Amino acid sequence: MTRIAVLTSGGDAPGMNAAIRAVVRLGLARGFEVVGVRDGYTGLIAGNWLPLGPRDVGGIIGRGGTVLGTTRCNDLKTETGQAAAERQIRERDIDGLVVIGGNGSQAGAAALARRGVRVIGLASTIDNDLPGADITIGATTALDTAVEAIDRLRVTAASHHRAFLVEVMGRHHGFLGLYAGIAGGAEAVVLPEVNVEPETVAAEILGSYQRGKSHAIVVVAEGAQHDAEGLAAYFRAHAQRLGFELRVVRLGHLQRGGPPGVFDRMYATSLGAAAVEHVAAQRWGVLLGQIDGKVAATPLAAIAGATKPLDLELYRLAYLLAQ
Ligand code: F6P
Repeated sequence: MTRIAVLTSGGDAPGMNAAIRAVVRLGLARGFEVVGVRDGYTGLIAGNWLPLGPRDVGGIIGRGGTVLGTTRCNDLKTETGQAAAERQIRERDIDGLVVIGGNGSQAGAAALARRGVRVIGLASTIDNDLPGADITIGATTALDTAVEAIDRLRVTAASHHRAFLVEVMGRHHGFLGLYAGIAGGAEAVVLPEVNVEPETVAAEILGSYQRGKSHAIVVVAEGAQHDAEGLAAYFRAHAQRLGFELRVVRLGHLQRGGPPGVFDRMYATSLGAAAVEHVAAQRWGVLLGQIDGKVAATPLAAIAGATKPLDLELYRLAYLLAQ
C-alpha cells in the first residue's frame, strides 16, 4: 500500500489545515495510508508521527494555524539533520512526503529531494514570496486581517488628525506591505525592496495634511531598511519641526492567526488534491502553486533559495493613488 506523510513547516499560515485535510481525505480515498508528522522537520528528524484517519481532520478546514504543529528547524539545514530525516522516511517505508510551507521549508524539501526522498511541496506562507506560485496559502487571509486593522486605525487617526505607522510582516518581501497599503488606502508604503529615507516619509505625511486629509497612514514592512521603530525614532527626534502627532502599531503575529478566508480554504484544498494526484502519478520533486489561475508544478530545485520579485509598478501606483 502507498504510504504518504504530511507535515507543516515554518511560519503557520491560515489554510494549512485545509491542505492537511485534503491530503488526508483524498489520499485515503485513493487507498493510500496517510501519516502526519508533528512539528515540521523537527518531528520528522525525531520520528514524531501519528496515523491520520478521516475523523482526525474533522472540523479543521476553518481553523487557522496547523493541527500538526510547526517549527523552524535549523537541524534540517545540516547534513546530519538531513540524513536523520531521510533515515526516518526510509525506515517507515514512506513512499512520499508532502511539505506544506514557505521558502525555508521548500528549500528543506529540495535538500531532501536531492538525497532521493520523494517529496512534494505545497506553497504556503503569508509572505507570498515563493516563486512557483502567484499566491501562497495564507497570504490573502493575512492581507484581509491587515487591511481590517488599517481601516480601524484610519477611523481613530482621522478623529485625532494623527499619523500612524502600521508595521506589517514580511522580513524580506514587501507583498503584504504593498497590498495592505494599496487596499488600505495608505498615504505611503515602506518596503524592503525600495529604500525610502525618513525625510521622504515625513514629506508624504505632511503633504497629506496639506492636501486636506485628516490623517496619514504609513504601512511599513518589518523588513524595510528604515523600519517602523527607526522611522518613529526619527520622527520623535524631529517632532517640533515636523509638527504631526504620531502613533505606531505593530500588527505582528495577529496577521498569521485567525480563520482562513474562503479563497485560502479552496486554494489549500486544491493544492492538497493536486498533491495526492502527483503521488498517484509518481511525480516527485516539485512545488505546487497556482500560476495564471491554474495549479502548476515547478521543480523544487528551481525555487530553492529564490525569491519572487515584487511588482514595482504597483509600488509606484501606491503613491499615485495616495494623492
Ligand atoms: O512566516 C512568515 C513570517 O510571518 C514573516 O512575515 C515574519 O517575518 C516571520 O514569519 C516571523 O517569524 P516568527 O513567527 O518565527 O517570529
